[in-house]
Amino acid sequence: MIVFHEATRMFFLHGKNYSCALRIHPAGYLCNFHFGGRIGEDDLAYLDHSARELSFSPIPPDVGNYFSLDVSANEYAGFGQGDFRSPSVLIVRENGERASRFVYTSHKIYGGAPDLDGLPSARGGQTLAISLKDVLSGAEIVLNYTVYEDSDVLVRNAEIRNGGKTPVTLLRADSFCLDLAAGEYDVLRLHGRHNMERTPERTPLGHGSIRIGSSRGASSHQMNPFLALLERGAGEDSGVCLGFELLYSGSWTLEAEVSQTGSVRVCGGINDLNFSWELGAGRSFITPQVAICYSARGLGEMSRSFADFFREHVLPEKFVYSPRPVLVNNWEATYFDFDREKLCALADEAAALGIDTLVLDDGWFGKRNNDRTSLGDWTVNETKLDGGLDPVIGHCKRLGMKFGIWFEPEMISKESELYRAHPDWAIGRADVPRCESRHQYVLDMTREEVTDYVFGCMSEILSRHEISYVKWDMNRHISEFYSSRLPAERQGEFAHRYILGVYGLIGRLQAAFPNVFFEGCSGGGGRFDGGMLCYFPQFWTSDDTDAYERARIQWGTSYGYPLSAMSCHVSVCPNHQTGRITPFFSRGAIASLGATGYELDPGRLSGEEKRQIKEQIANYREIEALILRGDLYRIADPFAGELFCVAVVSKDKARAYVVGMRVHAVPGDFDRRVRLKGLAPEKRYAVEELSLTLRGDTLMNAGLLLPRLPDFGCWVWHLKETS
Ligand code: GLA
Repeated sequence: MIVFHEATRMFFLHGKNYSCALRIHPAGYLCNFHFGGRIGEDDLAYLDHSARELSFSPIPPDVGNYFSLDVSANEYAGFGQGDFRSPSVLIVRENGERASRFVYTSHKIYGGAPDLDGLPSARGGQTLAISLKDVLSGAEIVLNYTVYEDSDVLVRNAEIRNGGKTPVTLLRADSFCLDLAAGEYDVLRLHGRHNMERTPERTPLGHGSIRIGSSRGASSHQMNPFLALLERGAGEDSGVCLGFELLYSGSWTLEAEVSQTGSVRVCGGINDLNFSWELGAGRSFITPQVAICYSARGLGEMSRSFADFFREHVLPEKFVYSPRPVLVNNWEATYFDFDREKLCALADEAAALGIDTLVLDDGWFGKRNNDRTSLGDWTVNETKLDGGLDPVIGHCKRLGMKFGIWFEPEMISKESELYRAHPDWAIGRADVPRCESRHQYVLDMTREEVTDYVFGCMSEILSRHEISYVKWDMNRHISEFYSSRLPAERQGEFAHRYILGVYGLIGRLQAAFPNVFFEGCSGGGGRFDGGMLCYFPQFWTSDDTDAYERARIQWGTSYGYPLSAMSCHVSVCPNHQTGRITPFFSRGAIASLGATGYELDPGRLSGEEKRQIKEQIANYREIEALILRGDLYRIADPFAGELFCVAVVSKDKARAYVVGMRVHAVPGDFDRRVRLKGLAPEKRYAVEELSLTLRGDTLMNAGLLLPRLPDFGCWVWHLKETS
């Protein structure tokens, strides 16, 4: 709910458990008076005391001697007018001046979400759009706040319009700025690398800044566009936590800065490194959205709120709650070495086990028999696939299976027909050697003829064949950051224009093929972000399918994203990424905590493993509603000790699914208990595997005995309410 009080010139934004109070200062500055637990709408003017002034904090010309922007809580921060913290924008005028100072001009409140013109955005809610004016440059800023009554997530972004008569250049354009009252906080971030995405790291926030981000042209494996602030002492199940996630897939930053007074500024959006944007008179620039989550009950509640928010307002409506394909992907089964016979044999084995979709991964096009060639040549390699795709698709169909296919649409191999015809379509200059990564270049997605070409190729494949699923991959980061089509003064726009081009292409394909299920991927989970999740109901969480590593990666990912967005496959051992051997049961149990599937050749498995696959799929279908709709409770942290355990509980608390892993077997460790979470204390639950019926409070407070397990052994418990 959004309310404006004319008399006090205050806005109140109320979500499920939080309130945000903004006040228009008498001189027009938009200040934050509260962001936190829910409050009434009493006059907060008592907070408007006279002490917002310090020596060495310049005072703007229009306020009298009691107020400096350096120490006020600014909702969008200008530059060069006293506020020395991170500015929200840098607007360079024709004469080179870049100072800016914003005052309120008007606002409107409307049902629904703002239109972000090509950027991914959250659906629904109620929006407050506050217009500010830069008294120095004449630029207009619209701050959008979208509130959902049933959610603790507030969505924000900013639009900058050049209201003057001459062009300006943006050197920075953040999505938001939130100044919180002084407090002691820790910062949680999710760092990583290929095969090791989203590793949580918690550190105290001291004076100065913690600034995280990516300058890779992709949200990246190395750092996820997620940051949480935890009030010191807050933990998994208690204390105040604020989560911040960008709905953006390009280069980004998020920053938390402790000021001289101890107040904390959180801000971020598009990475301003190598960013500039020419804004002609009357033109607007729209920044990506940030989802800000308030939790008074620790990180657990924050994650559940983010999960609900993604499901209800971000993930594609058509697929979000629909049963997911249980697929077999041939990548680790064959790598590039396949033909029709091998694929058909794989499908035969898979169908017999209950797998419903065969996904043909990399290597079906051009002359691609290794990773040195053919990206961009999206025509079927008929030497390899005798008769093309149709015989394989027909075979799958006869088995009752569907067919999916891999693309890496944003890429071009140096060794390809496409490159020979259009060397200038790759990012960088065709006449200067460029950086290669996995022997490939990146297509210049800022160019319409390039996105048109890729659209044409993919449409051709998708319209000519019965394809139900597409895996959209992106296997390198951007270098050069130069487009031969952009004028010199616009090269700083490249990275953002690139990702806009990608969003445009995905959107166009999805509109043309609305029944195709698109899964995202970027060398595993390199672009697992809120922007991509507006298009992809699920994302390949990591190339690392080792059960132990995956438990950790999925744990880290769960801080910000729902289980149903994580694609999780069972693969063979020794694991191709780590060489580790883990029980087949464990691999299935960990893969069941997301959209499950297989990354192996079932024909090479033992009879016992095949039997387990049938069981795993039956189990997955039984608990799928929990994975798609349930609440996640993190119970034992694999980064903190030798156990991993999570529970997924249905909203009505009638069912729960618990999965745990013991990392190393320990002799004589018979007295350890696992205390469950999230159950209704007074309900009675049957624990299927233990033939026990116990009250929820017993399960949560006394706990269940940890089963005896080998190294990397998993256990699962299915709980059902009994009358
Ligand atoms: C990436 C993906 C893998 C596979 C390969 C194919 O690494 O993450 O799943 O598709 O590319 O080249």
